[in-house]
This record gives sequence, structure tokens and C-alpha cells, in this order.
Amino acid sequence: MPEDCAITTAPVPPLLHARNLRFAAGGETLIDINDLTLGASGPTMILGPNGAGKSLLLRLLHGLIQPTAGQIDTATSRQAMVFQRPVLLRRTVAANIHYALRAARQPRDRAAALLTQAGLNAKARQPARSLSGGEQQRLAIVRALATAPDVLFLDEPTSSLDPAATLAIEALISAADAAGTKVVMVTHDPAQARRLGAEVVFLHHGRVQEHTSADRFFDTPQSPAARAYLAGGLIL
Ligand SMILES: Nc1ncnc2c1ncn2[C@@H]1O[C@H](COP(=O)(O)OP(=O)(O)OP(=O)(O)O)[C@@H](O)[C@H]1O
Ligand SMILES: [Mg+2]
Repeated sequence: MPEDCAITTAPVPPLLHARNLRFAAGGETLIDINDLTLGASGPTMILGPNGAGKSLLLRLLHGLIQPTAGQIDTATSRQAMVFQRPVLLRRTVAANIHYALRAARQPRDRAAALLTQAGLNAKARQPARSLSGGEQQRLAIVRALATAPDVLFLDEPTSSLDPAATLAIEALISAADAAGTKVVMVTHDPAQARRLGAEVVFLHHGRVQEHTSADRFFDTPQSPAARAYLAGGLIL
């Protein structure tokens, strides 16, 4: 093949790369991760028992807390995070979206599409804090998407929602993934992780026990802790 026809693929830097990452508090090491690389392809689901360090890891990756040691390299500065209990502005639904668009210097006319995506057109003028839990969560997600993030962190976005509200949130997450946003999400629901995830990071005692494709994780979990977790057993 002539040289000018050769297809060269430049190495794509990982979106997120944690190296020798440690977070300690109260004399305990709560996060201890030697190497965790998250690429751009498909949503990453973070699973693990209560207290495993999932929320801490998400906060570290998003830069909300500083590690005790180690570092996180990110290939992007456009990141957004949605918390389990979203904090909405004491304004209308529409104003919450307008605020996010303004802060991220995004065109104001994206608001209509975001309201539609959240299924909140009819409630645009309602105070955001008067929405139901599921509606608030949908608003929080589209408000995060308003900032056009390359990476979207979600901490248990459906943990207090009914099945219909959960599916509505999952549709938003899938749409964000299809639009090219890297989703990194904590969930306690293995079935949800299977529906949404391309890969799984399984945390236990602040350490990554497994980092593998979702199929492989659910079909053949390698670590005893993951097997016990998936079997619904008590993990110590
Ligand atoms: N600032 C802190 N100081 C001391 N301990 C902390 C701090 N933040 C978190 N922890 C502890 O770190 C551990 C991991 O907390 P984290 O919130 O990340 O767990 P999690 O995996 O998200 O659990 P859950 O599933 O219950 O949400 C917990 O034992 C928690 O008490
Ligand atoms: Mg948590």
C-alpha cells in the first residue's frame, strides 16, 4: 500500500486515568487504586457493597475531593455530576436549565429540547423543588447534559424511584451515551448495570476487585467478593 494511503490510528488517550490513587481519612485508607483507566467506549457501571467507596471514587474522579496520594489524569475538562439527591435551584424548572446553559456558555435555545427530553414541558414554569423525586432526578440529569459534558458522573440516579421513573432515567442515560457522552455511574441494581453498562468496575474495601466487560462480569465473576455480591450474599 502506498504510504499516503496507509491508515494510521493515533493512540487515543483514555478519558480518565487514575494512578496510585489513595484517599485516607480517620486513619483508614478508604480508596486504594493502583491503576484504573476508563476509555470512551460505552457506559461504565461502578458496583460494590455499601461502604465500598463508590461515592468517594466518583467524587475523586470528578475532582470534588483531593486524593491523599496519586493522581487522576483527564483528557477533558467538560465533566458533570448528578448526585443521588439532586440539589435544584429555588427557581422554576426552565430557569434551572437556563442557568446551566448560561454557566456553560451554551445556546439558550437548547432549553426546549432538554425540557422535552426530560418529559417536563408541561412543568417548565413550576418551581423545581415542587417536582416529584423522579421528575427532579430527570431535571438534574438534563441540567447536567445542558453543559454538554464529555463525561457524566451519576451516583445512584434511580435508587429511590419506581420502575417507570427508573426506565425514564435509563432512557436519558442511554440517549446521553448514544450522543457521545461517557457515562460513569454508580448503581446498586445489577439488572440495571447489565441493561446500561458496557463495562463494570467492582469495588470492595476501596479496591478495584474487577474491571471487565459487563457480559464477562455478570456471566463469570472472578473474585469471591463479586460472586457473593451477585448471589445476594453478605460480603465482609
Ligand atoms: N470524609 C470521610 N471521612 C471518613 N470516612 C469517610 C469519609 N467519606 C467517606 N468515608 C467512609 O468511606 C467509606 C466509603 O464511603 P462511600 O460513601 O464511598 O461508600 P459507597 O460505596 O458509596 O456506599 P453506599 O453504597 O452506601 O452509598 C464509608 O465507610 C464511609 O463511612
Ligand atoms: Mg454511595
